[in-house]
Amino acid sequence: MFLLNLVTAAGLAVVAAAQVVNQTSCNGKNYTYQELAGFGLIPGDARDEFGDTIGGIGSAIALDRFQWRKLSNGSYTGVLWALPDRGWNTEGTLNFQPRVHKFDILFTPQPSATVANPSGNNLFFTYKETIKFYGPDGTPTTGLDADGTGHLSYPGYPDLPVATYQGDGFGNPGPIHKRIPIDSEGIILNADGSFWISDEYGPYVYRFNPAGLMIGAIRPPDAYIPVRNGTESFSADSPTFYASKGAGDDVIPADNPTGRDNNHGFEGLTVDGNNLYVLLQAAANQEGGLGKQTERYARLLKYDITIPSAPRYAREFVVPLPLYNDPTAKASKNPKVAAQSEIFHVQDGQFFILSRDSGAGHGQSVSTSVYRHIDVFDIADATDIKGSVYDCTNCSIASEDLGILKTGITPATYCSFIDFNVNSQLNRFGVHNGGAQDSRLLNEKWESIGIVPVDGLIGDDDEWFVFSLSDDDFITQNGYLEGGSFTYADASGFNLDNQALVFKIHLPDHSRPFPRGP
Ligand SMILES: *[C@@H]1O[C@H](CO)[C@@H](O)[C@H](O)[C@H]1NC(C)=O
Ligand SMILES: *[C@@H]1O[C@H](CO)[C@@H](O)[C@H](O)[C@H]1NC(C)=O
Ligand SMILES: *[C@@H]1O[C@H](CO)[C@@H](O)[C@H](O)[C@H]1NC(C)=O
Ligand SMILES: *[C@@H]1O[C@H](CO)[C@@H](O)[C@H](O)[C@H]1NC(C)=O
Ligand SMILES: *[C@@H]1O[C@H](CO)[C@@H](O)[C@H](O)[C@H]1NC(C)=O
Repeated sequence: MFLLNLVTAAGLAVVAAAQVVNQTSCNGKNYTYQELAGFGLIPGDARDEFGDTIGGIGSAIALDRFQWRKLSNGSYTGVLWALPDRGWNTEGTLNFQPRVHKFDILFTPQPSATVANPSGNNLFFTYKETIKFYGPDGTPTTGLDADGTGHLSYPGYPDLPVATYQGDGFGNPGPIHKRIPIDSEGIILNADGSFWISDEYGPYVYRFNPAGLMIGAIRPPDAYIPVRNGTESFSADSPTFYASKGAGDDVIPADNPTGRDNNHGFEGLTVDGNNLYVLLQAAANQEGGLGKQTERYARLLKYDITIPSAPRYAREFVVPLPLYNDPTAKASKNPKVAAQSEIFHVQDGQFFILSRDSGAGHGQSVSTSVYRHIDVFDIADATDIKGSVYDCTNCSIASEDLGILKTGITPATYCSFIDFNVNSQLNRFGVHNGGAQDSRLLNEKWESIGIVPVDGLIGDDDEWFVFSLSDDDFITQNGYLEGGSFTYADASGFNLDNQALVFKIHLPDHSRPFPRGP
C-alpha cells in the first residue's frame, strides 16, 4: 500500500511536471501554460464567397461562446469569426472592402503528441460566410489609406476619416468616390449578432449591425487623434498600390507629430460585461511612439457600454509594453519594445496581451522570433489618467524623445506568460520557430486571442484553450480581390497560410472570462 502510494505519487508528479511549460503569478493570481494543444491552417489562397482571397484573418478573432461543444468522441466543434485587416497591402493599399469571415471549427486534442512522434494538424476550418462592412448610409467601407485632410460627416457621428479615390480604387479610371477607410484590428461579437470593430486609421471603434451596416462610432480623446499642420489628419502614409510605384509618401509630413503613429492604432479590443477596453499598439507619437526603443507606454481606454448606442468614456490607464533584445540589431538599437497586437479580459482587471517582435518568421529575412508572447497585465494598481491633464492634443504621458514615463503615473503590472516560440512544444505538431523557411515555420504576425473552456461548458475546472491566429498579410502567389477581377502575386515570392495555434492553460481559480451560458 505504502509502495503503491509512492509509485502513484511519483507517477502523478511526472505527469504534472510534463503538463507545465511555464507558470506566472500576477498580483497573486496564478496562470499555468500546460501545453501546446493544436495547430491548423487555412490555405493562403483560399477564397471567400465573393471570390476574394481569405488573408490577414488573424488580425482578430471571436469564438462564439454559445456554439462551443465537446463531443462524446473527444473532439470539439465551434464557430470562429476571423477579421482580416485592410486587404493585400505589401505593395500599397487597395479598395478592399473590410469584412469578417465566419468558420465552423473542428478541434481534436492530441495530448500524446511528442517531438519524436508529432501529431499532424488537429484544428480544421470550414468556411461559412462573409459579412462586409458598410458606412451608416450603406456605402461600402474601404481599405485605402485615409486622406491627409478632411473627414466625412454623418448625423450623430464624430468626424470620420475619409478616403477619396478615382475610378474603382484598383487603378482603373472612373468618377471620384469617398468612403470610410477602415484598417480592422479588433473584434467583439455581441450576443445580438452586432460587432464592435477597432481600427488603425482613426483610431476609432465602430459598431456594426449583424448585416455589416455601421451603427455607431467611438472617437477617442484628442491625444490619440493624428494631427498634421495643426488639424486632424487620418492618413497612415500608406500610398495606394497603383500610385505607390516610386511615388513615396502620400502625406506631408509622413509622421504625424501627435496622436497614434501610422499603422499603430487600436490593435487591442476586449469587453468585460458592460465595459469595453481598447489599447493602442504602442505609444502615441508625442510620447515616444516614433521609435522602436521608446514606444513603450501604450494608452488603454475603458468605455461603459451599458447603453451600446451611447458609450461613456470611463477611465484610462497606461500599459508598459515588454522589452526584448533583437539579435540582428546592434547594441545601441537594443532593447526594443514588443508592440502589442491584441488583448483579452480574463477577470477582475487582469488581461491577456499579445506582444511580439517583428520581422521574423515565414516570409521574412530572419526565421527566428525572439519575443512572441501572450502575457498578462493587471490594472488594479494603475493610475487612472483620464482627464484634461493627459487627454488634450499635445498632452503626453511620457517624454517625446526618450519615452520616459512621467512621474506620478503608475502603469499596469506586466507579467510574462505564454511563449509561442518554445520549439519543444511546437515540434509536437510539426511546426517550428527558426530554421528552414518552409510552410511549417511560424508566421511573423500573431495578432489574435480567443478562449474557450476545456470542459465544453463553463470552465469550472479553470482549464481553457487559448486560440491565436496569425495575419499572413494576404501573401500568396495566387491572390484575388475585387470579386476575383484583380489578381496578384506577392513580390516576395512567398505563399503564407493563415496559421492557427491552440494552447492549453489553467487560469486563476474561478476565472469567468465569459458570462454563463443560456
Ligand atoms: C500560486 O502558486 C504559488 C507557487 O506555486 C503558490 O505558493 C500559491 O499558493 C499559489 N496561489 C494561489 C492563489 O493559488
Ligand atoms: C468526432 O465526431 C465528429 C462529428 O461526427 C467528427 O467530425 C470527428 O472527426 C470525430 N472525432 C474523432 C476523434 O473521431
Ligand atoms: C502641411 O503643410 C505642408 C507645408 O505647407 C504641406 O506641404 C502639406 O501638404 C500639409 N499637410 C497636410 C496634411 O495638410
Ligand atoms: C503641439 O505640438 C506641435 C508638434 O509638436 C507643436 O508644433 C506645437 O507648438 C504644440 N502646441 C502647443 C500649444 O504646445
Ligand atoms: C518561463 O517564463 C519566464 C519568465 O516568466 C522566462 O524567463 C522563461 O524563459 C520561460 N520559459 C519558457 C520555457 O517559456
